[in-house]
Amino acid sequence: MSQQNIYDNEKFFENFKNIRADKINFNDIIETPIITSMLPPLEGKKVLDIGCGMGQHAKQYAEMGAQSVTGIDISEKMLSCAVKNNSADNITYRRLAFEDLDKLSEKYDVVTSSLAFDYVEDLEGLMKNIKNLLNKDGKVVFSMSHPISTAYDGVYDRYTRTESGEKLYANLHNYGAEGKRKIKWVVDDYELYHRRVSTIINEIVSAGFIIEKCREAELPEEIVKKYPEKFGGLIHHPDFIFFALRKAD
Ligand SMILES: C[S@@+](CC[C@H](N)C(=O)[O-])C[C@H]1O[C@@H](n2cnc3c(N)ncnc32)[C@H](O)[C@@H]1O
Repeated sequence: MSQQNIYDNEKFFENFKNIRADKINFNDIIETPIITSMLPPLEGKKVLDIGCGMGQHAKQYAEMGAQSVTGIDISEKMLSCAVKNNSADNITYRRLAFEDLDKLSEKYDVVTSSLAFDYVEDLEGLMKNIKNLLNKDGKVVFSMSHPISTAYDGVYDRYTRTESGEKLYANLHNYGAEGKRKIKWVVDDYELYHRRVSTIINEIVSAGFIIEKCREAELPEEIVKKYPEKFGGLIHHPDFIFFALRKAD
């Protein structure tokens, strides 16, 4: 596979595992409640979770009544954690890159993905492949890093702060320059793809979907007040963006 597989890098994997294991993490506190609120009822549905990582969402969807959940991911390390910690009789984990979705022979009622599409070079192509995997009336719900996050190119800090360190405002640099970003995060050459909001919307629509709902990262004020250093930036800078889609035809 020629795709980036940074989650199999020992240092990167250990760091991600520790972040995800922290009780107060962005995934469980921000991402999971929002994506869950956008899902259709899962009872009796066949679900595909793309970039399933350590399987927390796959397990959640099985517990929400899905008939079956298939979790795919490129990373062996992430998948072995998924098998160890988040298995169930109706969950199948498979090592498969999202660039190779055409290797799946089944159809699904609901396709989900949490924070994996940052790594997609051809979003429109991926969305077309997802459309081909959907049953009639199938739905897609996914999250990815918000373009205000993916714009970050390492030239300036993400925030301008007060002298005491409080986040005063978010810095946005080169938002209009789309494409691959190579930045320093845990490793020296962490890669992701930056697209403007309009590009994401247009690629989803060109692939043949109707956007039913879009949300951005947000939190109840009491949680932000309780953890100001962790979540205080959210008011300036929504870390994630979420879409719920149905097929246009
Ligand atoms: C930020 S993690 C999110 C994991 C999980 N969805 C969650 O919510 O915890 C991104 C995941 O995308 C996976 N990924 C990255 N590139 C991929 C690719 N080309 N094909 C499949 N999975 C990929 C990574 O291995 C990693 O498990």
